[in-house]
Formats: sequence, C-alpha cells, structure tokens
Amino acid sequence: MEAQNRYEKITDAVLALLAEIVGDKNVLTGDERGNYSRDETLGLKPVLPEVVVRPGDTGSVARILKLANDRNIPVTPRGGGTGISGGAVPIYGGIVLSLERMNKIWEIDDDNFVATVEPGVILSYFYQAVEEYGLYYPLYPGEVSATIGGNVATNAGGMKAVKYGVTRHFVLGLEAVLPTGEIIETGGKFVKCSTGYDLTQLITGSEGTLAVITKIMLRLIPPLGKREILFIPFNNLHEAIKSVPDILKERILPVGIEFMEKDIINMVEQYTGKEIPLHNYEAFLMIIVEADSEDEIHRIASRIGEVCLNNGAVDVFIPGSERAKRRLLECREKFYPAISHFGMADLADVVVPRSKVAEFVEKAKGIAGEYGIPIIVYGHAGDGNVHLHPMGKGTDKSEEKVKELLARIYEVGVSLGGTISGEHGLGLVKKGYLPMASDRGKIDLMKRIKRAFDPNSIMNSGKVFDLE
Ligand code: LAC
Ligand code: ZN
Repeated sequence: MEAQNRYEKITDAVLALLAEIVGDKNVLTGDERGNYSRDETLGLKPVLPEVVVRPGDTGSVARILKLANDRNIPVTPRGGGTGISGGAVPIYGGIVLSLERMNKIWEIDDDNFVATVEPGVILSYFYQAVEEYGLYYPLYPGEVSATIGGNVATNAGGMKAVKYGVTRHFVLGLEAVLPTGEIIETGGKFVKCSTGYDLTQLITGSEGTLAVITKIMLRLIPPLGKREILFIPFNNLHEAIKSVPDILKERILPVGIEFMEKDIINMVEQYTGKEIPLHNYEAFLMIIVEADSEDEIHRIASRIGEVCLNNGAVDVFIPGSERAKRRLLECREKFYPAISHFGMADLADVVVPRSKVAEFVEKAKGIAGEYGIPIIVYGHAGDGNVHLHPMGKGTDKSEEKVKELLARIYEVGVSLGGTISGEHGLGLVKKGYLPMASDRGKIDLMKRIKRAFDPNSIMNSGKVFDLE
C-alpha cells in the first residue's frame, strides 16, 4: 500500500525514547497489542500496531506526538475501542496512543455547571460522578463503557438527542495536542463564544485525524429527576413512524423516540434470554420522557399515548418500576451486539430530516427487497437517524451486493436531504461514501484543514477520507 510505505517503522531506538516518556510498562510490544488492533466494527480485519503507548498526562502526549511527527510514524488515538466504523484500527501499524490512563475527572464545577475531564473517563463512571454533585450529563449513546474522549472524537449521539442534542452540544472547550507537540486550548468554561473560529467544534467529531484531545470541558445541566419509558406496539412500522411527527407537533419534547420492529425485539430476547412485554406486535416506539414531577410525566405520557392510539397504536405499556424501565433500556442497548450475533453483514447509520423517516425506511426496504437481502431497521426516529443492517453474513450474498445495496440506500438518504452517518462516524469503513454526501469543494477544504493541523499526515490517517 502506497500510504503505508510513506511511514517509517518503529525502531528499538524509538521504543527506548517512548519508554523514557511513559515508562517501560506503558510501552506494549507483545501479545497485549491484540486488544488494540480492533474496535467493535463487525467483520473488520484487526491490524496490530507496532507499539501501544499509554501516556498518563498531556505533556507525555505532546512528547510522543512530536517524536512520531519528527520520525514520520503514524499515530492512532484510542479511547474505549467501542467504535463501529473502524476509527481506532491502526491501519498503518505505528503507534496506538491509548488514552485509557488519562481518566481523571479534574473538576465538577457546580457554580458554572461545567465538568473538566480527561479523555479516558468512562461514561458510566462519569454519569455517577456528576450525579453526586446533583447535576446531569444527559447524553446517552447507549454504550456506557465508551470513553468521553471517544464520544467527543466521534460526536456520539444516541437515544436522548431529541431533547438534548448530541455530544458536540455539550462540549464547551478542549485541550488538544497537535502533531508538532504544541498544546492548544479552545473554548472555556463559558456558554457563549464569538471569538474567532470555533476550533472546539472543529476538533469535536474529527475522529482523531487532527489532534489528540487531552482535556474536555462539558456542559452539565440540572437533573429533571423523574423519567418514564413508554413502549408502544403497532400493527405495522408505517403507523409507528408516522406517529413521530404528530408527537412532536404537540410541542411536547420527549427525550428520545426510538423505533423498532418485531425481528430485532425477538433477536434481543433470544440474545439476552429476557422476555420483552408485548413482543408479538409488528412494530414499536420506545419513548423516553424526563420531567421534574410525576404530574408532568403523567401529562406528557398521556398526550403521547393519545397521539399514538390515534395513529393505530394497539396499546401503551408504561413500566412504572425503575427495574422495568431499566430492563427496557438495557434491551435497547443490546440491539447492536444481538444483531452482530445473528449475522449482520453490514450497518448503515443514515440520518434524514425526521419528517422523512417513514419515506426513507420504505424506500430502503424496497431496495433491500430487490436485492433479496433481509434487512433489519431500527433507530432514533425522533432524530431522523436510521440504522439498517443487511443480514445474512456468511451466506451466498456476496459482499459486493451488500455494498451496492448500502450505496443505493445512501443515495436515497442523501436525496431526501439527509447524510450518510448520523452518529457512528466515517472512520475506515464508511470513508468511501463521503463523496456521496459532500461535494468536491467541501472535501478539498477538509483536506486543506487536515494538512494545516497535520502536515505530515500522521494523525489517524486513512480515516474519514484519503488524502491522496
Ligand atoms: C444503536 C447504535 C448502533 O443505536 O448506534 O444501537
Ligand atoms: Zn444509534
């Protein structure tokens, strides 16, 4: 591979320099590298890095990057490794820069409602820490073992975006290290900023291709205190999805509106061994509501129930107990592993204007029908974000056919005013589709931005787009 030849191999002398920076035990060259050769993208070939380096502070990250830049060694930053677009796979070998040891919560400032954290903080741990201060970080990408750094690098979305938006809406400031070793600080502990270009938001979602994020300031909010989950069965998907714009027109804002069909519900039941209520209906909405009183929850839930029943819903299941709510959410969190287990061949993460979800899903299913490829569809209906999984891995459906199917589905998404990835990122596996969603001028500008940050192209290169 041409790009690979551009880079230098890691010598013993470089390993010794890395050990000087982070200590011997944080320079991994043995079998342990296997854990850093992949993420959770199904079916993606693992690639061993030449070395895994685990810095403990920003100064060490700066020294590692300067060394790599001076020697032309590729660097792949890595958080929790839970990505599903291959973003953390070190395709050119080189260094995997694991941020796992940088997992301190520096501060939870309850005067300013800002948390300052290192990138390796695990999401589940962060939720708890914030709660202890009586505050709330509401984003819920659904994979609580992910790191905050990974969430910021991919601009993770998830199941509460209807009300709260996505990760970038909570990032107020960053500390990041450029490949030269220069440390920059962007944004700050303030909610307004009209001072120059917004580098915070440029680095957020850049999938490790511009800089290594070493500190993150996140906006927090007061907790709403009460929540309910509505699980609403329908006789067909069309009616379920059609209810969504009607719910939103009521001017009540649920936190999240998820849709799904019987096939995935049954898969997840088999996968977890736990039964889901009303599992025999064809399609469902799972709606998360948060409010500051039981009365308000009740009011919102009744409105949603009415709208759905008017649109053909068969029932409205309200779990009531915390345990039952938790079970429903846990079932939703297990969709991806369950589908992987049952032979997913690929995965699309299209986003369209939310009023177009029904049309998009119908067209996508029609195309899958033409190809004779079974497809599982679910997603974040309230955000217009649809996940489509062609199934049948290991059967006679050739990989090319599945790729062709995905490209056709992307075309439909883009033609409806949407784009290719709503929340998973392009990483390695989706980069080839970028030209379908962005014109030439915009991609060229992205490349110029990449070169301005990273002239030698050592930072997670070969992800998002190819420079050459
Ligand atoms: C989900 C992941 C796949 O929504 O984004 O479950
Ligand atoms: Zn999702």
